[in-house]
Amino acid sequence: MGIHYNSESKTFHLKAKDTSYVLGILRDGYLVHYYWGKGISEYRNSNFLQFVDRGFSGNPYQQKNDRTFSLDTLPQEYPQYGNTDFRKPAYQVQLENGSTVSDLRYVSHAIYQGKAPLEGLPATYVEDAEEAETLEITIEDSLIGLKVILSYTIFEQFNAITRSVRFVNDGVQSVKLLSALSLSVDFREADFDFLHLHGAHVKERHIERKPLRHGIQSVESTRGGSSHQHNPFIALPRKGTTEDNGEVYGFNFVYSGNFLAQAEVDQFSNTRVTMGINPFDFSWKLDVGKSFQAPEVVMVYSSEGLGDMSRTYHELYRTRLVRGNYRDKERPILVNNWEATYFNFNEEKILEIAKAGSELGIELFVLDDGWFGKRDDDRSSLGDWFVDHNKLPNGLGSLSSNVKEMGLEFGLWFEPEMISVDSDLYREHPDWCLHVPGRSRSESRNQLVLDFSREDVCVEITKRVSDILASAPISYVKWDMNRHMTEIGSALLPADRQRETAHRYMLGLYMVMENITTSFPDVLFESCSGGGGRFDPGILYYMPQTWTSDNTDAVSRLKIQYGTSLVYPIVSMGAHVSAVPNHQVHRSTSMEMRGDVAMSGNLGYELDLTKLSNEEKEIVKQQVAYYKDIRRLIQFGDFFRLKSPFDGNETAWLFTNKEKTEVMVYYFRVLAEPAAPFAFLKLNGIDVNKQYQVTGTNNVYGGDELVYAGLSIPLDLHGDFQSHSWHLKEI
Ligand code: DGJ
Repeated sequence: MGIHYNSESKTFHLKAKDTSYVLGILRDGYLVHYYWGKGISEYRNSNFLQFVDRGFSGNPYQQKNDRTFSLDTLPQEYPQYGNTDFRKPAYQVQLENGSTVSDLRYVSHAIYQGKAPLEGLPATYVEDAEEAETLEITIEDSLIGLKVILSYTIFEQFNAITRSVRFVNDGVQSVKLLSALSLSVDFREADFDFLHLHGAHVKERHIERKPLRHGIQSVESTRGGSSHQHNPFIALPRKGTTEDNGEVYGFNFVYSGNFLAQAEVDQFSNTRVTMGINPFDFSWKLDVGKSFQAPEVVMVYSSEGLGDMSRTYHELYRTRLVRGNYRDKERPILVNNWEATYFNFNEEKILEIAKAGSELGIELFVLDDGWFGKRDDDRSSLGDWFVDHNKLPNGLGSLSSNVKEMGLEFGLWFEPEMISVDSDLYREHPDWCLHVPGRSRSESRNQLVLDFSREDVCVEITKRVSDILASAPISYVKWDMNRHMTEIGSALLPADRQRETAHRYMLGLYMVMENITTSFPDVLFESCSGGGGRFDPGILYYMPQTWTSDNTDAVSRLKIQYGTSLVYPIVSMGAHVSAVPNHQVHRSTSMEMRGDVAMSGNLGYELDLTKLSNEEKEIVKQQVAYYKDIRRLIQFGDFFRLKSPFDGNETAWLFTNKEKTEVMVYYFRVLAEPAAPFAFLKLNGIDVNKQYQVTGTNNVYGGDELVYAGLSIPLDLHGDFQSHSWHLKEI
């Protein structure tokens, strides 16, 4: 590992684990990109840039006599607008005179051990400076005194490079950032697919992979949250890249609001990837002496397929993004009352469910929406974070103590960023929500969004949530967010800063999350946004797990969890067994399949346990006991995808510990098939040199046999919605 600067060739060679990233300073101080890919011992410019006169690719002023030099044909590190590059720039500024052209050139650089935090923003971190090295390159537009600092961090243990950008106004006039993306990478080729995770509420993170084509392909959010619709992640796998073979480049934005992820293939079949805060409806006024920090992008390279890329993201995020007491701890098995009761509960009912949970070995009871204000449906009370004594006459203190006495921890639901029109908070502070003066306020689920760009709002909500958390033995919080932003504007911002509102909201949210999570370090926080509407690395920095989807149907979950696993660690995925017929898609699947799907994530139950038959209770009891046995393996093991639900009727995946002495394999078949073929599951990911016993049997197989010949998939799985698992241990 290391960052090496060659002052003769003016190249920076960044070496992460087995990855090299090379950039350089070209004539007149332009920063160019040479290479990113498999590790190279020494870069000597074999893939040198070639200069030719290309028609309609103009020449910047200093090179006007050299028709071969054009920014339009150069692979750049942080491209600008207005001086011969006609592709999409990485940023754009507007000056007081209205012009939008700028010109950044190399000024200086610094290399240091470790990684500095990003002020007010979530980011990956190191625990020891030796784990990483950082390069900061300052480029400047000397005409206006605008400095841009590009940061690159490489990690010793990971094939990952993080990038972020800081703008500093050292000039004498204010500058408006119209766009300030965090990353731009120019590949001198276009032989890639464009892979991304799209979806909808109850259908998150479905994988779509299509060949790159000339022109622009992008995914984005304009919703004020990273969104169910598009995750802030894209990858460029080479055309033949599979789960286990081939090159892939991954990009994930550590941010929870509006984003843009884009690939532009130009006239010469170069590919420019850019990622950052969505320039749509964004601008930021940078006064003299002020700076603007753009969030981080985590770039992962793998030469060993999509699976290896995912495992890099998983381990980096599990160990160097997620923080707090729960980072390395096994997560409790919970029961949540939402799908059991919705808003219709009282203290007695809650205690009955908790009691049933305790008899089955469940470890945490979560009281969901409806415990505060006068919230008997979703029309009121958000913002009034005070216990509803009609429903809970003895208060939260007594309820949580009773639950604790049964041997379960107690958890509570909040939706801190929201306000109901029918709430005391709204009656007192009608201007505390996002809104535009004179315009009516669009509601969604009967609620408005609090204006977290305002400090007073953040302070009051922090106080209300903290008061509740301090009032009772609460050891878990589900932090929900159930609508997207409309009429985005803030009562406190001047006209020329209104387009800062959405980003200022995110900064306010991150501050509130930082304050609350650090004030209550023993509380386990799970984020949620109508399920997985904000499943992104920004939120994972504050809250180590996320409710993956409001869709709890086992079949739908196969795609949702498989897609989510492309980037996010298994331990971060909340996965619950719920009732049948399922409340979202009305399908009935067996308790076994529901259990196997949920046990492939962070297990919980979300149904009225008191209504289960004795036989069902017995199955749940066994699942809970079994999960406790394999929990560390599932939550902290390495994950290998074997069969994709996006390819057909079957899904399979496996978990193995680092030593590969223990393996858990899950196979799912959605529909029964007539005349089904004899099929095998090749257990990629286990150790070919070890001998494994299938637990509960006398069968012993060599790892090589299991990987190369495979394991027969049983044909005696009868009917639709079947699952089967194997637990292997080295002998
Ligand atoms: C949406 C969440 O995703 C559900 O699990 C539940 O908490 C409801 N909100 C409550 O309103």
